[in-house]
Amino acid sequence: MRKLHLHSSYKSLLFVFFLSLFSLSAFSQDISTDPAAISAGEQLFNANCKACHRVDKKLVGPALAGVVDRAPSIDWIKSFIKNSSKVIAAGDEYAVNLYNEYNKTQMTAFTSFKDEEIMNILAYVSAYKAPGPDEGGANQNNQQNAVSQGAPEYLNIILIGMIIILILLVLILGFLVSAMKRFLDQRTLTEEERDVVHSPITFGTVTSSPGFKFIVVFLIAAFGFKAVINGLFSIGVQQGYAPKQPIAFSHKIHAGQYEIDCKYCHTGAMNTKNATIPSVNICMNCHNQIKSGTNTGENEIGKIVRAFNENKPIEWVRVHNLPDLAYFNHSQHVNVGGIECQTCHGPVEEMDVVRQHSLLTMGWCIDCHRKTDVNSKGNAYYDKLVELHNDKEGMKVKDIGGLECSKCHY
Ligand code: HEC
Ligand code: HEC
Ligand code: HEC
Ligand code: HEC
Ligand code: HEC
Ligand code: HEC
Repeated sequence: MRKLHLHSSYKSLLFVFFLSLFSLSAFSQDISTDPAAISAGEQLFNANCKACHRVDKKLVGPALAGVVDRAPSIDWIKSFIKNSSKVIAAGDEYAVNLYNEYNKTQMTAFTSFKDEEIMNILAYVSAYKAPGPDEGGANQNNQQNAVSQGAPEYLNIILIGMIIILILLVLILGFLVSAMKRFLDQRTLTEEERDVVHSPITFGTVTSSPGFKFIVVFLIAAFGFKAVINGLFSIGVQQGYAPKQPIAFSHKIHAGQYEIDCKYCHTGAMNTKNATIPSVNICMNCHNQIKSGTNTGENEIGKIVRAFNENKPIEWVRVHNLPDLAYFNHSQHVNVGGIECQTCHGPVEEMDVVRQHSLLTMGWCIDCHRKTDVNSKGNAYYDKLVELHNDKEGMKVKDIGGLECSKCHY
């Protein structure tokens, strides 16, 4: 009796033990709904997966919504993300089918990902809701655009204003003349005076009148003045320069519509002086599968494939060009300074053809160095300097030598 009792309590203990073990392992495989996990997952997804995946639609790879239910298991998903070619090479049926369905496009291997990170990505994918139509910072960018390209617009407005004032003056004068005539008609006038008042207005009398001559001279002078000013504005300055490229590559489609990260293509921006233009290989990551565009058909993408097969680089026309005497470094600004590409290059993600957005003059560089605080976040080297400069102004780039000639000139 006693033995039995012991035995059953032992059994129930064992049961509880196994139950908790099971729920523990089930828990670790569960998709988390914790907001912290979801936001960590979103960051990982945007930085690593977004170039090829969306949650809600097919891109280079499949839409990831529902992948947890459709893939063989969560462990399978983990191994596939860490090294998909290993899973495919092992002959896994689901993986091989998927690989063939996606025209044998190789997914990047993420060997350094931890299980927990993958679970965070899955948490994000499960919690994902499609964004509303009015999200995004397009307005802000437009505003910035309008401000920094102000000068020539401003002159146009003045010129148009002056022309409107002139036309109004002519109308008022015409009105006065006819009023005067009516007034004089009520007077008794000599024959000679009557002739003068009623002399017909012909083309000849108008063109020979001093008022008309004045207007003509004024208009010629105004347009000439505007041409000279426009010329002066553009000496050595290439703002707005947007050359035609050998392939109709559109940032609006790639960086805008498909939200591919700038740094996926401009790989040098974080760590080197040059942002770099992507090689054909980077295009082929996607275009060995995407063979035709909506706007240009197969033509333009055909050029990429040809360049790839012939092993010839695409000869992109350079848009931005500082003279050799000046030194500019991307990683210093993008990585260390934490400045967004758009601050200097404008809303590139809205441009079908890239154009030079900023002036790129020495004044432009200096102006920003005077106004901008040094990004000292997470940089121990700067902490001491910031302390030394601990006044209300904050520590600007000029305070760390951003105005020294030798920093920008060789
Ligand atoms: C270079 C493009 C590319 C990148 C980057 C990429 N993938 Fe993939 N992914 C693919 C392709 C293509 C497939 C389809 C299978 C194949 O061709 O290997 C795929 C398949 C998958 C699958 C299986 C989908 C299914 O329907 O079963 C998962 C899960 C997945 N990717 C997750 C990720 C995650 C998570 C990331 C980021 C950490 C990522 N991928 C980054 C291209 C990519
Ligand atoms: C899919 C690849 C890809 C992505 C993503 C991409 N670019 Fe580009 N970018 C290119 C190519 C190719 C060129 C050269 C052709 C051209 O000028 O249009 C280029 C040119 C440029 C230029 C002009 C370079 C010059 O010649 O002076 C700038 C500036 C630029 N990109 C900024 C950006 C920014 C900012 C983003 C993110 C919003 C971005 N790019 C995203 C491929 C890309
Ligand atoms: C991460 C994936 C990806 C990369 C990398 C990529 N593209 Fe694309 N590209 C796309 C997608 C998606 C489309 C849209 C296809 C469509 O409109 O159906 C596209 C469309 C195009 C089009 C056709 C546009 C149209 O609508 O007619 C051209 C041209 C093009 N890409 C050139 C390039 C060049 C050049 C590169 C390399 C510098 C490049 N792409 C790199 C994904 C990519
Ligand atoms: C502080 C201003 C600034 C920021 C921020 C900036 N750029 Fe630039 N970018 C420039 C200037 C100036 C040039 C011309 C450099 C030259 O001619 O030596 C340039 C040139 C380029 C070029 C063509 C030449 C090259 O370097 O390969 C590309 C592509 C480019 N930028 C992309 C980017 C991308 C992508 C980002 C964001 C990751 C970015 N830039 C951020 C100022 C900036
Ligand atoms: C949008 C603002 C902005 C513009 C425009 C800009 N810079 Fe800078 N620049 C910065 C910031 C911020 C830093 C400080 C980065 C850091 O934390 O070290 C910096 C740092 C530098 C440095 C290093 C200074 C030092 O003492 O270490 C050089 C050199 C430089 N910029 C050159 C240029 C040149 C050349 C141009 C124009 C072609 C330019 N910058 C345009 C914001 C800008
Ligand atoms: C923040 C970076 C920066 C600093 C600091 C700087 N410059 Fe420049 N400088 C430039 C850039 C960029 C250009 C090219 C501008 C252009 O092409 O319009 C330039 C152009 C020039 C030119 C040639 C002008 C021309 O019309 O071709 C001279 C001369 C010059 N700088 C002298 C100086 C002197 C002297 C100092 C120190 C007092 C100085 N710069 C400090 C960035 C800088």
